[in-house]
Formats: sequence, structure tokens, C-alpha cells
Amino acid sequence: KKKLSPYSTMSKPKLLVVRDDIFRDLPAFDVLREMFDIDTYPASAGRIPRDVFLQKLKGCSALICVPHQKVDKEALDKSGKQLKVITSYSVGYDHMDINEIKSRGIRVGTVGDCQSDTVAEFNIGLAIAVSRKFQQGRNYISSGEWARSQSGNCRTDIVGLNNATVGIVGLGKIGLATAQLLKAFKVSKILYTSRQIKQEGTDLGAQLVPLDTLCAESDFIFITCALTKDTEGLVGGKQISLMKPSAIVINTSRGGLIDQDALVEALREKKIRGAGLDVMIPEPLPGDHPLVQLENCVLTPHSSSATKELRDTMSVISAENIIRGYKGEPMIFEL
Ligand code: DGY
Repeated sequence: KKKLSPYSTMSKPKLLVVRDDIFRDLPAFDVLREMFDIDTYPASAGRIPRDVFLQKLKGCSALICVPHQKVDKEALDKSGKQLKVITSYSVGYDHMDINEIKSRGIRVGTVGDCQSDTVAEFNIGLAIAVSRKFQQGRNYISSGEWARSQSGNCRTDIVGLNNATVGIVGLGKIGLATAQLLKAFKVSKILYTSRQIKQEGTDLGAQLVPLDTLCAESDFIFITCALTKDTEGLVGGKQISLMKPSAIVINTSRGGLIDQDALVEALREKKIRGAGLDVMIPEPLPGDHPLVQLENCVLTPHSSSATKELRDTMSVISAENIIRGYKGEPMIFEL
């Protein structure tokens, strides 16, 4: 005789998943479906609007959210007292008011550090695309300029990763994975900022320096720290003005870490060599934004963690976090 699930005979608690493409054909999702009455929003319709999110959250016991939807006091008030567990389909959690969530006894998790290698790989990809001028090269061909002239390839001002000084802003898991890959490109020096000296940095021969020194000395600046109240606008107009004309800024963390207007100006005036941005303000970035007009800026749509394998992993962790958190067991990555 088929064993009845303990969840199938009672009315199920509600789980809101803010975009439907988080679901995967994986056993963890069968368990979720069995445990919860799931509501979601089609990713094909764009981002879930705030009012729809708040409406759907009402009466939910569990929530899987993403970085563009704030989980703040207003959202928690709307959800009601039955909300027991939240997990974000992301490593970043600047969109969640963790103190407020925890003060209500709600369990909260993320996908933890599963993204480090994949995002590090993307950091290197962006750095090479910007420094070796992939975008300009393509435009050189599509404009017919290459067919018309011989100029452009022989004498260049390009600085590659080999022998460059690289700076890592925040030597966390992603910063460290990036530094490890950079070693293979035979960079000459790795500088980093951190609240304290990191043994992993020392092991790589990296040097802890103040942020201004890192900005002034690096040919490549990788921003890999989390966005918090303390790091908002960390790379400001002053830091950008200290950068060398050879400097390339790579940001795959959060747009709010950089003074974006100052960056646009420095790129436009060619005060720095270029930028590779996977994150920006706002997201989605409108197609006519000043950043899009800049040939020395490579833009990607917040996709540094978007490989099939990693997305599957993130989905499983999110599902497991909800299942375990709801049952009162330790989540895979809990804040
Ligand atoms: C994260 O996981 O925080 C990435 O930025 C994707 O949102």
C-alpha cells in the first residue's frame, strides 16, 4: 500500500518563489512540491512588481527570493506571523533586512559560497574582454575599418594581465578564487584590501594595502566585496581619480559599491582604460544609458553566476534550505 506523505493529508503551507525559472527537474523540487502549496511568478513576464510580490507574500510560510526584491519590514509585515523560513537564490543578501528577519524568529539562508569559482572565471573573462578590446575589435570589423586600413593592430596601448599589478577589493571567497586564477596569468603583483591580513592572501604572495593605494597602483581592479552600509560607494570619485590611465575596473558584486557617475565620466574622458561591469544601477540597465554608449566599457546583464551547473546547484541549495529550515533542521547556508 502506498505510504501517504505526512503533508498530503493536511492543507499545505504556502511557499512563494519569486521567479519560476528557479525550478529544476531535480528531486529536491519534488519534495518542495509535496510539502508546500507553491505560488510563483513567470520570469518571462519580467521582474515581479513590488505590489504583486507583497500581495502574493500574504499568508506565506516560506519564501525563495532574489536580489532585486527587497525583503524588508514592509514585506515581513505583509506576509504575516506564519512566515518561518526565507532563502535567497543568491550569495548576496544586501536586499534582505537580516536583523528585522531574525528579530521575528524567521530562519534565513542563501546559496552560500557555491559561486566562487564560476564568478572568478567571469571576472577573468571580463578583464580580458576589456583589456584586449574585444568590443572595439568587433566594431573595427563591423564598421568596415579593418577592410579599409591597416592601422589598429601593430602599435597598441594594450596592457594584458601578464606582468600587470592587480588589486582585489575584498579578499572573500570570490576575491580569493579570482586571485588564484590570476596567478596562472603570471601577474606581477596582487594587492588586496580587507579588514585584516588574510593567511590565504599571504599564501598567494598577495599584499594587504589601503584602498587608495590599491586604486593608485593597480592596472586591474576587481571589486569582489559584499554591499553593506559600510561598503556603499566604497570606490568613490576620489578613488577613481587616483587610478592610473591604464586602470581597468571589474565589478561583478553590486553596482552600489562604485560611484557610477564618476566612473562614467572617467571612462568617457579616458582617464582610465576601461571597465567591465556585470552589475550596475539600475538593473535592468536601460538600453540608452550613458554606460551603454561607452566603447571602453563591457557590460553584461548580472550573469556572472549563470552557468547551467551552478544554477542547478543554487536551485538545490535553495530548495534544501527551505525544506530543512521549515522542518527546524540546520539549513545548508544559514545567516
Ligand atoms: C548573487 O548571487 O548575489 C549574484 O549577484 C546573483 O544575483
